[in-house]
Amino acid sequence: MNDQEAAKRIAQLTKEINHHNQLYYQESRIEISDYEFDQLLEELIRLETEFPDLLSPESPSQRVGGTITKEFKTVKHEYRMMSLGNTYTTEELLAFDERVQKGLGHQDYEYFCEMKFDGVAISLVYENGQLVRAVTRGDGTQGDDVTANVQTIRNIPLKVTGKHVPTKFEVRGEIFLPIREFEKINAEREANGEALMANPRNAASGTLKMQDSSIVAKRRLNCYLYQLLGDDLEVETHEKGIHLIESWGFNVSPTYQKVKDIQGVLKYIDHWREKRHTLPLETDGVVLKINSLEQQEELGFTAKNPRWAIAYKYKAESAETELLSITYQVGRTGAITPVANLSPVSLAGTTVKRASLHNANEIKRLGIFEGDFVYVEKGGEIIPKITGVNLQKRKAGAHSIDYIKECPECGTPLVRKEGEAKHFCPNVHHCPPQILGRIEHFVFKRAMDIDSLGTERIRALIDQGFISSYADIYDLEGKAKELLGLEMSHDQYEKEESGLLYITLEKALFALTEQISFKQIQDFLEEAAELPLFETLRAFQEKIRKWKKKVPSNTGMVEFLLNALKDHPELPKMEDYVPVAVVLEIFLGRRVDFDEILKASKKEGTIHGILLRLNLDLPDELRERIKKLKANTFQEGVISNMLEGIKASKEQSFEKVLFALGIRNIGENTAQLLARHFKSIDRLQEATEEDLLEINGVGETLVQSIQDFFSEKENLDNISRLKTHGLKFKLEENETQPKSTALAGKKILASGKLEHFKRDEIVDFVQDHGGQYITSVSKNLDFIIEGEGMGPSKKEKAKKLGIPMISEEEFLAMIKE
Ligand code: IVH
Repeated sequence: MNDQEAAKRIAQLTKEINHHNQLYYQESRIEISDYEFDQLLEELIRLETEFPDLLSPESPSQRVGGTITKEFKTVKHEYRMMSLGNTYTTEELLAFDERVQKGLGHQDYEYFCEMKFDGVAISLVYENGQLVRAVTRGDGTQGDDVTANVQTIRNIPLKVTGKHVPTKFEVRGEIFLPIREFEKINAEREANGEALMANPRNAASGTLKMQDSSIVAKRRLNCYLYQLLGDDLEVETHEKGIHLIESWGFNVSPTYQKVKDIQGVLKYIDHWREKRHTLPLETDGVVLKINSLEQQEELGFTAKNPRWAIAYKYKAESAETELLSITYQVGRTGAITPVANLSPVSLAGTTVKRASLHNANEIKRLGIFEGDFVYVEKGGEIIPKITGVNLQKRKAGAHSIDYIKECPECGTPLVRKEGEAKHFCPNVHHCPPQILGRIEHFVFKRAMDIDSLGTERIRALIDQGFISSYADIYDLEGKAKELLGLEMSHDQYEKEESGLLYITLEKALFALTEQISFKQIQDFLEEAAELPLFETLRAFQEKIRKWKKKVPSNTGMVEFLLNALKDHPELPKMEDYVPVAVVLEIFLGRRVDFDEILKASKKEGTIHGILLRLNLDLPDELRERIKKLKANTFQEGVISNMLEGIKASKEQSFEKVLFALGIRNIGENTAQLLARHFKSIDRLQEATEEDLLEINGVGETLVQSIQDFFSEKENLDNISRLKTHGLKFKLEENETQPKSTALAGKKILASGKLEHFKRDEIVDFVQDHGGQYITSVSKNLDFIIEGEGMGPSKKEKAKKLGIPMISEEEFLAMIKE
C-alpha cells in the first residue's frame, strides 16, 4: 500500500467508525457487532502505525486508551465548580422564584429546565479547538486530572472545528454509565462470580478513576454536557450556549426545555416524573436555571450555590405494598436466601413483585409479620429493598414470620453454624441445587470438559429425575429415546402446595393464540401488571382486536380460558400463573376427562410428562400448539451432541477426573500433585495420614477433606460406577513422564494476554514441563510471565514481594534450553 492508498483507506475507516459511534451514542442503535467494530478499529490502528504521518489527533484510534496513570494530578479549576441548592416541594420552588423576582427587581425573566443527571461532574477545557484537560469536580476549587480516561469516551470531541469556536473555552457536564451498560457489566460479573456494582453512578465514578485507560475504553461511558464557560463568549443566554455546544458536536440531552415562568417549571417537573425512567441513564431530579446570563450575573452566588439555579429532587422512590408470602431459595452451596413475594406495585418505572430479605436476621430486624404492608424503596440500586412495616395496617391476629426449619428443595432440617448469618441445607448429596453445583463442577472445562452439558440442561435432567449424581451422567448413554422431547427449562412452571402444576400466564396465552409473538405477550403483561387476572384477560382481548390478529379465533380462545377458570373456582389461585390442567382442558377437553388431566397434572412436573401419562394419539396440529406451552425441548441434534461429549470425556486423564470429583480443598494443582504421587485412586484411598503428610504441599486440612470424602458411601459408590463406565482412575504410562523437566519445582503464574497460549493452554504447558501453575500473586511464586496488559495492581504487588517478572519470549527460551 502506498501513502495515497493508505490515506484513502484511513479516511474511509474513520468515517465508518465515526458513523457507528454516532449511531450507538446518539441513537442507541447498532448495525454491526462489537467484534466487527473492533476489527475496523484494529485495521485503522495498524495503518496508522505503518504510516505514522497519517495519524490525526482526532482519529477514533485515539480512544482505545493504553495509558497507565499511577496518580491523578490535582488541577485548579479556572471557574469554581459550584454545587446546587436542593428543593423537594412546590412551596420551596415558589419561595425560590420569589427570591429571584426580588433579586431582579421585577424584570421579566425565563427559566431553562434540564434533567439532573446522576453521574460524575466533569470539566472539559479546550484550547485552539483541542481537548487539553478533563478534570473532576473535586472540592469545587480543584479536582483530579482524568484526561487520559476521558479521551476514551467516544462522543467527547477530541477536537472542535468550526467558524465561531473560541480559542479557549470550557464545557461542563456529567459523565455517566448508561443503565443498559451497567446491567450488562453486572450480568458478566455475576457470571464470573465477582462482586456486583451497587449502582450506575458508583460504577461511573469508579471507572473514571481507573489507572488503566484501556479498561475505561471498554466500559462505554457516556457524557451529557450542560454548561459553556469562557471569557468573551458571544452568547447572552444559557439556551444559546447549549445550542452552540450542540452545534460543535457535544452530546446534549434532548430533554431540556425553555419555559416562561415557574408554572412552566412545575409542568416540566410533572412531565418527567415518570417518563424519566425511559431515559438511558439515572436521573434524580430537575435543574432550573435563569436563562439570561446577564441576569445570572446580577443574581450572583451565596457561599456555596448560585442564586440563579436550583435543583428539584424527586422523592426517593418508595411504595407500600402487601407481603404475600416468603419463599426460600437454595443456592448451589446449600445457602438459604429468603425472598419476599409482594403484591405487584409500580415503583420507579418498573413493577416490583419481589425483594430480597437476605437472611433470618434481616427479617427479625425489620420485624415483619405475615401479611404485613411493607414499604419498598428503590434508590440508585436495581434490586428493591424492604425498608419498614406499616404497623397501622397490621392484621388482627397476625403472626411473626416462622423462618423455615427444613430445606424447601429436599426437606432436610437446616443448620446454622456459629457466627453465620445464613442457614444451610446439609443434604449435600441429594438436594437438587447442590447436585447441580457439583455436576457443574464435574463437567467444567478443566475437569471432565463436557461443554454440551450446560446449566440449563443439567437442571432439566435433575428436575426430571434423570440424574442425581455425576455418575448418573454416564447412564444417559442408553436413554437417548427417553430424552427426546424433554423440556429443557422449568422456569415456566410452578407447583402449588397440593402438587398441582401451574404454568405462567404468558406461556398459556402464547399457546392459546396464533400469530402473536411471545415478546408481544410479555410486553402486554408488563403493561397490565397491576390488573387482576380476569381484567387482564379482557384487556388482552381488546389488544387482539387492536392488533387485528386473527381476531375471532384468538379472542375466542381467551374467552375459553376465562370461562374455564371460572368453571373451576375450587383450584387455588397463583399470581401470574394458571393451572396447567385448565389450559390443557381447552385443548384436550373433547378427548379426555378433566379429572384425568387434573390427576396427571398433580403427578407430573411438565407438559411432556402429562402427555406421556395420558398416552393420547394427537393430530400433529394440536401437538404443535401444545408444544408452545413447553420450554425448548431436547432434540435429536442436541442429544447426540451431548452423548458424544459424555463419551469423549472418558478420555480425560486421571488428574482431571480426580479434580472433577469435587473433593473439598482439591483444586487443579493438588489433584495433579496427588495423581502423580499415588498414581491411582485406590492408592490414594488407602493412603494413611502419614503417607499424605509426607507430600510437600499437603497439610492437615487437606488430609481431613480426603478422609471425609472416602468415608462417605455415596462417594465410593459413585467412584465404582464411574470405573465401570471406563473413566480413568489410574495414571497412564505416558502421563507419568512430563514432556521435560525444564520447570521442575517451579511455581509459575502468567498474567495479561499471552501471544502463544490461551488461558488454559499455559496451565497445561507449565504442568507438562514439570512446573506448578499458581493462580494468584503470592510470595511462593518463582516468577511471573508478564503478558500484554497485565493489571497494574498485580504488577505492584509482584514488585513489592520481589517476584521476578519475565517476558513470554524469555519463558519460552527456558524450555528450549
Ligand atoms: S448545573 C452552578 N445542570 O449536580 C451549578 N448540574 O449539585 C452548575 N448536575 O455538580 C451545575 N445534572 O454534577 C447542572 N443539568 C444539570 C445537572 C447538574 C446534574 C450535577 C452536577 C453538579 C451537581 C450540583
